[in-house]
Amino acid sequence: MAIQDGIAPHGGTLVNRIVTAEQRTVFLEKADFLPRVTLDERAFSDLAMIAIGGFSPLTGFMEQADYDTVVTDMRLANGLPWSVPVTLSVSEEVAAPLAEGSLVRLDDASGRFVGVLELTQKYTYDKVREATHVYRTDEDKHPGVKVVYAQGPINLAGPVWLLQRDAHPLFPNYQIDPAASRALFKERGWRTVVGFQTRNPIHRAHEYIQKCALETVDGLFLHPLVGATKEDDIPADVRMRCYEIMMEHYFPQDRVILAINPSAMRYAGPREAIFHALIRKNYGCTHFIVGRDHAGVGDYYGTYDAQYIFDEFEPGELGIAPMKFEHAFYCTRTSGMATTKTSPSTPEERIHLSGTKVREMLRRGELPPPEFSRPEVAAELAKAMRVAQEV
Ligand code: ADX
Repeated sequence: MAIQDGIAPHGGTLVNRIVTAEQRTVFLEKADFLPRVTLDERAFSDLAMIAIGGFSPLTGFMEQADYDTVVTDMRLANGLPWSVPVTLSVSEEVAAPLAEGSLVRLDDASGRFVGVLELTQKYTYDKVREATHVYRTDEDKHPGVKVVYAQGPINLAGPVWLLQRDAHPLFPNYQIDPAASRALFKERGWRTVVGFQTRNPIHRAHEYIQKCALETVDGLFLHPLVGATKEDDIPADVRMRCYEIMMEHYFPQDRVILAINPSAMRYAGPREAIFHALIRKNYGCTHFIVGRDHAGVGDYYGTYDAQYIFDEFEPGELGIAPMKFEHAFYCTRTSGMATTKTSPSTPEERIHLSGTKVREMLRRGELPPPEFSRPEVAAELAKAMRVAQEV
């Protein structure tokens, strides 16, 4: 593929599983006669990600051959790297009446008809094996493992179709799907684009690594995850408002694009860093930022495990280059953002706050300091906390 056409999607082709007008008519006619499965928030976002090509080359929920090699070897059955299972897991009662080879109607949690699965396979799977390989722990306290343990014991597999691509209810202007982001990068003449994954409100260490990365590439694709997150993470609407503030005051508009990543968080640390990178490759990014404890939670992963895992692949196999950053902080000795790579500071001279600490401060009505958070962002977070406490 020529460079002006952008980086190739994972597996070579950008998947599109949104129905055509004709398919839609056919499915709508059949809708009342098909067996139904209701999707939870994650499964619905996975369906959408498959349909828009964000999970290319996946065209549906994984069959057992792919599932098994993904869990144990971080590869699809054909050898292509893939690090996290994408499955539709249901109870035995739901699975029992469904016949392999038939079409299944997929509804969202409100009962709306949203997609179709061509059921090619039903299979059981070992949850503890999935947990220990993918999440590196079998503890049910881990929020990703908890989801695996709570979901049904049967995986329904096969190709899917999304009935229609609705505008995002909260962020319609930021819903830039892979085909559109690729077109946008091309329009802007960006040959190299670095993607940034985040599930937290933007702080200065984020901004620092984003801008360090941007110094060496043509564009920055800010891609906050707005799918399902755990209860105590800051809600997506608050995080997006913080990003809007940053776009207005602190980022060069012509070098940065803000868009949503509609997928769900897994908290799988290293495995998820690979997954996050492949998703951004599908959106057209050539580079991907991996900082400290990427997609981690608690102390399940080593600070840089999510960087080391990229070395388990041969150069070029992933097709997107990680940009690895050390733990960044504000350095009082050099009066600027830094890491231990660039500053001779002692630990006492470094200002960095954990997410938990920031939430505690906000609950007490205190603003995080300007060394940690831009003042406009701190004010927005404080406002959101006041509103949440009033409710
Ligand atoms: S994540 O779960 O989406 O990874 P978060 O939004 O906190 O969480 O992080 C987004 C990205 O910024 C990740 O690549 C993470 O490693 C990186 N990051 C967060 N804080 C820091 C920091 N202080 N120093 C370096 N990298 C960081």
